[in-house]
Amino acid sequence: MTRKKETIKIAVLASGRGSNFIAIADAISRGEINADIAFLFSNSKEAKAIEAAEKRGIKTKVVDSRSLSKEEYDKKLIEVLTEEEIDLVLLAGYMKIVGKALIETFPLRIMNIHPSLLPSFKGLHAQRQAIEYGVKVSGCTVHFVDEGMDRGPIIIQSAIPVLDDDTAESLSNRILIEEHRLYAKAVKLFAHGKLRVEGRKVFIDSK
Ligand code: GAR
Repeated sequence: MTRKKETIKIAVLASGRGSNFIAIADAISRGEINADIAFLFSNSKEAKAIEAAEKRGIKTKVVDSRSLSKEEYDKKLIEVLTEEEIDLVLLAGYMKIVGKALIETFPLRIMNIHPSLLPSFKGLHAQRQAIEYGVKVSGCTVHFVDEGMDRGPIIIQSAIPVLDDDTAESLSNRILIEEHRLYAKAVKLFAHGKLRVEGRKVFIDSK
């Protein structure tokens, strides 16, 4: 199982508006997930997610990635996460590649949400890629982060139909609603010790 403590400590890493962060923070506030968000971390002080955290009384930390080399930035991030004894790191619209050192410090303890049914449509603009490819179904995926982009073991996925008149925007909006539900569900499974990983496969304990 993926945890030991009673109430796990989470850090959320976000670069943008932070709607997934808000969904998880709200699910925790409603008592649905046995976890605390220790802080919201961002690589940019302009991230809207910071405002959302402050509004909820959640601590924020910013390390401006533009003023540092990749190594310096990663070192700072690892310091911040280990200092606070974080159990689970959540990437929520975090637009930076997670370095090897961070993955090795938090093996199977970093999750990401991606707006497609992986392994289809990795990388940026996954919803636009889905529309342009002409798929009939897309969706979202929560996975553990490894060194490959959008590649780590898949925890849960949810399918969303692609409609004939969908634009990248309309599809993104429908997927986003599902992302909020799915990410909170994955975090709950982790926090409540329900996940077991064997190689690429993640098993969910149904008890
Ligand atoms: C979400 O759609 C998330 O899946 C996506 O960025 C958006 C962030 O929204 N992430 C990726 O594409 C990662 N490859 P949010 O800031 O409102 O949570």
